[in-house]
Amino acid sequence: MRVTVIGTGHVGLITCVSLAELGHVVVGTDSDEEKIGQLDKGLSPFYEPGVEELLVSGMRAGKLSFTSDSTAAVAEADVVFICVGTPPRASGEASLVAVEQAAAVVGRHASRRTVVVEKSTVPAGTAQRVKQMLVRLKPDLAHEVVSNPEFLREGKAIEDSLNPDRILVGAESPSAFAVMRELYAPLIGNGCRLIETDIATAELAKHACNAFLALKISYANALARLCERSGADVVAVAEVMGADDRIGKQFLAAGLGYGGYCFPKDLVAFERLASGLGYKFRLLKEVARINDEAVEATAEKVRDALWNLENKKVTLLGLSFKPGTDDVRFSPALALARRLMSQGAVVVGYDPEAGAEAKAELPGLEVASDPYEAAGGADCLVLCSEWAEFRDLDLAKLDEIMQHPVIVDGRNFFEPEQMRAAGFSYYPTGRPAIY
Ligand SMILES: NC(=O)c1ccc[n+]([C@@H]2O[C@H](COP(=O)([O-])OP(=O)(O)OC[C@H]3O[C@@H](n4cnc5c(N)ncnc54)[C@H](O)[C@@H]3O)[C@@H](O)[C@H]2O)c1
Repeated sequence: MRVTVIGTGHVGLITCVSLAELGHVVVGTDSDEEKIGQLDKGLSPFYEPGVEELLVSGMRAGKLSFTSDSTAAVAEADVVFICVGTPPRASGEASLVAVEQAAAVVGRHASRRTVVVEKSTVPAGTAQRVKQMLVRLKPDLAHEVVSNPEFLREGKAIEDSLNPDRILVGAESPSAFAVMRELYAPLIGNGCRLIETDIATAELAKHACNAFLALKISYANALARLCERSGADVVAVAEVMGADDRIGKQFLAAGLGYGGYCFPKDLVAFERLASGLGYKFRLLKEVARINDEAVEATAEKVRDALWNLENKKVTLLGLSFKPGTDDVRFSPALALARRLMSQGAVVVGYDPEAGAEAKAELPGLEVASDPYEAAGGADCLVLCSEWAEFRDLDLAKLDEIMQHPVIVDGRNFFEPEQMRAAGFSYYPTGRPAIY
């Protein structure tokens, strides 16, 4: 099939390389010309394991190309994916300006009947808006609109895209379902379920999934606050909970909280959608509040360890919102850095991939090129995102170069006994501290 992808960011680029890998002929287009220039050279604009290999192999096979000319890109497409950003407005609602622009390009320039696939995360009802616009612009072409929300995880995006456990398609007509089945045919079966629904259900289900995962994390963080006050251990509590299949093990890790370009904005957008529909989904507000509290609770541990923060040096390890990505959007590590800096601390960060992105986002943050440079002379070190390479940290060396051997563990990454043996004061999350 001839596929055009509008928006070649974290979702759009993965869609491009994956569909090309499945044998389709894919054209990616983006309003950011610099990004297109980079992609044209076979370079990914962001860090994601495996993406560059597929990018280069797709281009070499003649299956994948990029252009900043969106008009030409949509003209002959069988299927157009909309993968543009849906950032939050000040009110928390999703801004759908880029979705509208992308739909307008299809409406004006597609020369034949096309299936327009909404892959960006959007509030229920958006596809109907897209459809109305397409009809208004060229009524005779009768484009189909489909919702096909994305469930990839950054850091594992290629794996998730080429070996998904489910593909969700919301559509209105048998012909639209048929096109989507053909598009994804090589992926369906083998542990991947195709779920077909109406459009509003697909749109709403995506928000429901993200909000529920965020809720599980906030539940674990609320338990952490309770464990800290009662002397219980939140890791053991989560293990007990996870042993119950009805609850499940995943997303019960207490820590600095969730971040990234999905949970924080989608949770608020979902709450706003509910409010617009006349339902007060207060539970979601509480989930967001507990997530903010998780950053404050970590800052409090640093203050507890250091007393006054003025002119104290605090090292943050891991700046991306989670390991495996250089994405710092809504990163809890940067939220913590802002909080500590506003209280007078000098904050130095290190991240295996996201140093430059963090610096661009928060210029006052000092960024070091390795963990030991970051920790030299520090009064306290905070583990913010759990990159595997931090497992190999030389604790004796850290103890030697830090001003004070104090570690705050924002992800319960270290073993308390290991910290005790290495002589650190250790402040985990929701577990007893070691002084
Ligand atoms: N990042 C994730 O893990 C993830 C996962 C699932 C769903 N989503 C959703 O997918 C959507 C995209 O997220 P992302 O992380 O890829 O964002 P992104 O910022 O990485 O990419 C968006 C891209 O769209 C481009 N763009 C913006 N306006 C455009 C326009 N009018 N025409 C053409 N291109 C335009 C931008 O230049 C950018 O390259 C969002 O709705 C997000 O919520 C993201």
